[in-house]
Amino acid sequence: MCGIVGYIGSKDAYPIILNGLKRLEYRGYDSAGICLYNNGKIASKKSKGQISKLEKKISKLKSFSGFMGIGHTRWATHGEPNDNNSHPHSSNSNELHIVHNGIIENYSSLKKELVDKGFVFYTDTDTEVLVNLIEYIQLKEKIKLGEAVQLALNYVVGAYAIAVIDIKKPDEIVVARLGSPLCIGIGDDEYFIGSDVTPFLDHTKNVIYLNDGEMAIIRNHKQTQYRKIKDDSFTNPTVEKLEIDLAKIQKGGFDHFMLKEIYEQPKAVIDTLRGRLKTKSGIIKMSGVDDYIDKFLAANKITIVACGTSWHAGLIAEYMFEKIAKIPVEVEYASEFRYRNPVINKSDIIIAISQSGETADTLAAIKLAKSSGAFVYGICNVVGSTISRETDAGSYTHAGPEIGVASTKAFTTQMTVLYLIAVKLSKSKGVISSKKYREYIYELSSIEKKITKVLGTDNKVKKIANKIKNSTNCLYLGRGYNFPVALEGALKLKEISYIHAEGYPAAEMKHGPIALIDKNMPSIVIATNKLYYDKILSNIQEIKSRKGKIIAIVFEGDKEISKIADETIEVPETIAALTPFVTTIPLQLLAYHIAVKLGKNVDQPRNLAKSVTVE
Ligand code: G6P
Repeated sequence: MCGIVGYIGSKDAYPIILNGLKRLEYRGYDSAGICLYNNGKIASKKSKGQISKLEKKISKLKSFSGFMGIGHTRWATHGEPNDNNSHPHSSNSNELHIVHNGIIENYSSLKKELVDKGFVFYTDTDTEVLVNLIEYIQLKEKIKLGEAVQLALNYVVGAYAIAVIDIKKPDEIVVARLGSPLCIGIGDDEYFIGSDVTPFLDHTKNVIYLNDGEMAIIRNHKQTQYRKIKDDSFTNPTVEKLEIDLAKIQKGGFDHFMLKEIYEQPKAVIDTLRGRLKTKSGIIKMSGVDDYIDKFLAANKITIVACGTSWHAGLIAEYMFEKIAKIPVEVEYASEFRYRNPVINKSDIIIAISQSGETADTLAAIKLAKSSGAFVYGICNVVGSTISRETDAGSYTHAGPEIGVASTKAFTTQMTVLYLIAVKLSKSKGVISSKKYREYIYELSSIEKKITKVLGTDNKVKKIANKIKNSTNCLYLGRGYNFPVALEGALKLKEISYIHAEGYPAAEMKHGPIALIDKNMPSIVIATNKLYYDKILSNIQEIKSRKGKIIAIVFEGDKEISKIADETIEVPETIAALTPFVTTIPLQLLAYHIAVKLGKNVDQPRNLAKSVTVE
């Protein structure tokens, strides 16, 4: 939610900040703004809408340059997205300027106090309150910017990643974070600030990830000061080396990031398996699990916490862990778990799944579980993310950067990691025959080829998309491992095409959704699982006899369902536990093509953000 960028050095800050914002646009695109310091003056430009709109506005200005600046791309929380509420925000004196990602929860009481002291507010945002609070403290205490920011933050309740500049201090940016991510790129006598590392990837590979509750006073040509916000102690963060290369965050010839990421799935799965699955020797090596194997074996229960698509991966894992490893599993929305006083025992294992590693609710659920003494295992994609650092142990999914807001390859790689853990634990627990274990391993080692084959259905899926693109409702049905896939398919369609869709366990259809069925409502039925084949066939008949249209996903060579479905998409056969790998992809493609045909902004759907760092 919201992306922040900053630069201080000897180059022109404008193109650096603008390109940085474009890379962070996945975090929010309600509005954008840039503020630059140049020769004793501040130039600031903001605009409702996407960064391209801001860029057009700025290109009309003759000189919009400077050696220091901050930028913001917004996902609105307080105040509607308009030019006025866009960041950067300035203090009453127009000397302090701030960009902020997060929410100041006690902003209304702070605002009231500031109004009583004569401050005037021009926007509806919580951020304008913070910048004026800093100004008030700076003037009252006669202290430097860094100290004023620190004092002000001690009055604030909420989450923030901020960058502040002061016209009186043209060689300094003060940054701080609590609950929202922030990192600092260290260049050659220049510094870059970003909500993640992508804004400065083409400038430096050296990064400092600021920890929660820390701030930095970044000074040009001088030593940066890193300190805690709560007390005056200094910190000495480590400079880490980035391994992501620039090509991975570019579209690489595809029309959209989402399509590129769908097509990257075979490789992403290989990358997730690399070094972990030794097919010949039959070994699954996962240091995060190996190092804590006693905890995993003693676990009475695994609770999975996640949000959105990651929650769907968790639901599939419930089937995997219970069926394969015989461990009871609960899957919870992190936002519910954190507030419902869950019973957490010391012997429980909590698995937190998050692509971004920054989702506020998932992070809060982790903190709650840790405070109850549970062991927390994280499954994240973004290396160095907060969740990856807050958990006791974990596995990266290695999907590479996922830019499209609708998650695709992250989901597939989350399933890969979860399957590896389930199969590994089944062996360690001795609850699996060696024949079955070998079968599970063999099937996983060949899944990437099957995914590649499913991508070959793209043209067919595109034609189906054309036929159903004008529907206003769609029903997604699946059973067993494919019930969560039905939920995920419906979510993909909702997210990017704005067509209402619901995912249901196929048998539950009779308890409500069947009332909606008529000739205008397509049902997308995942009918690959052999165990439920006849039952799904009956569900399909029930829909057909009410004139509903059926799009069925079936195994290659299917005879029965293909005869009665209006459209079929054939996917290669695999074992039940791995069917989600082959059935999800046509649903991703279907949502993608419908959204493209409807002219929607596939990579940046309205109202959504990729990284949800507010509650
Ligand atoms: C947002 C994104 C989804 C994602 C969810 C959870 O809603 O748009 O794609 O699944 O957050 O994010 P996480 O990073 O924790 O997996």
